[in-house]
Formats: sequence, C-alpha cells, structure tokens
Amino acid sequence: MKTPRRTFLAGTASIVTSGLALPLSALAMQKKPAPKAAPKKKEEAEEEVSTNEDLMREHGVLNRILLIYDEAIRRIQANEKFDPTVLVKSAGLIKSFIEDYHEKLEEDHIFPRFEESGNKLTELTVNLRAQHAVGRILTQKIAAAAKSGDTQALSKALTAFNRMYRPHEAREDTVLFPALHSVVSKHEYDAMGEEFERIERKTFGGDGFDLAVDQVTELEKQFDIYDISKFTPDVK
Ligand SMILES: [Fe+2]
Ligand SMILES: [Fe+2]
Repeated sequence: MKTPRRTFLAGTASIVTSGLALPLSALAMQKKPAPKAAPKKKEEAEEEVSTNEDLMREHGVLNRILLIYDEAIRRIQANEKFDPTVLVKSAGLIKSFIEDYHEKLEEDHIFPRFEESGNKLTELTVNLRAQHAVGRILTQKIAAAAKSGDTQALSKALTAFNRMYRPHEAREDTVLFPALHSVVSKHEYDAMGEEFERIERKTFGGDGFDLAVDQVTELEKQFDIYDISKFTPDVK
C-alpha cells in the first residue's frame, strides 16, 4: 500500500536480518551489540509513514500547541501567573514547523493538485490559503504580546488563532487529505511522500517531526500540562 520511505534505514535493517543466512558464529557476532537493537525498531516503524499520515501527525503537533494556547487563555482569564517565554517559544515552533514547513508543503504540493484540476474543493483551498496568511499575522501578534506582557492582546490573538485553526485542520483531515487520492495516482501519492521526506530532512537536518514533538513536549512540561491525566474529568 505504501512505498517504503527512509530506504537507507530499511537497508540497515536488512543487513541485520540477513544474518540468518550466515554461519552461527557470524550470526553470534552480529547479535553481540544487543543494546543497539531497540532504536532500530523505531526507525523501521517510521518507514511506513504515508503522505496523509505525515500531514495529519503534523496536525497533532499543532493541536498540542493549541492546548498550550488554551491554557494560557484560561490563566489570563483566571488572573493566574504563567511564564510568557513558553508562549514566545510556542509561537516560534508554530512558525518553524507549521507555517514555514507544514503549510508550505500544503501550499506548494497539496492545494495545487486540486486547483490545477479545477476540482470542486478549490473553493476550500482558497479559504485554507487565506487562513494560513491570517495565521502568520496572528503568530506575530502572539509573540509580540507575550514579549511585551500585554495579556489582553495576547488573549485576543490566542483565542482567534485557536478558533480558526481547529476547523482549519479538521477540514483538511476529514475532507481535503482523503480527497487527495481522487486527484493523484497511487504512484504520484507515493512520490509526494518521498518528496516530503526529502524536504523535511533538508529543512531540519533530520526528522523534523521527532524534533517538533520533543520541543512541544518540553513546552508542555514547562507549562505544567504534560501529565495527560490532568485532562481527565472527575465524573463522580
Ligand atoms: Fe492548512
Ligand atoms: Fe494542515
């Protein structure tokens, strides 16, 4: 169903498994560095990432930043103190990972597939492009307000950002991305995944998604919302 990506990793894995055809002594030598076996499993799993899964898990990073923004809005309304540098860093991650990378992929590689074919979803892509542009302005406002300490301006920009991005990404996940299969061939779909992978490595010098997840995790910890059990309501 999917073309294997990160083929150099797949090559590494095959060298290890091909040991089955070697004499037992050689196999034993290959098996010696047991501690190195665990990381390879994660790399092998990453080979299965398809174009849409790639884009949708990037939305997962966006969603986690929206949670940080939600918490900042709540604290401003409740007059609770918070570290504004977390908001500055969150806005920075939105810019580097979402605006300059994820949205650029959508604008350069996804939206044109619908627009060039005169697809009925072109009206949607026009709106999505406009929202990307507004999002960039809001991100600048969020960073500026967090730096200056203007909590009212910060709350207003955060609220506008979250209100726009939840329907934006939900529409992409449920309407636009699934429809991609109807405007590109399977070969083109797989080739897009390869291209996204190449752009990701060129942009971030490695796995940009993993780096972004690490960064948002650290920001959640700094903002004391990393413990997911805190989101479970008491229904007693
Ligand atoms: Fe988008
Ligand atoms: Fe998106």
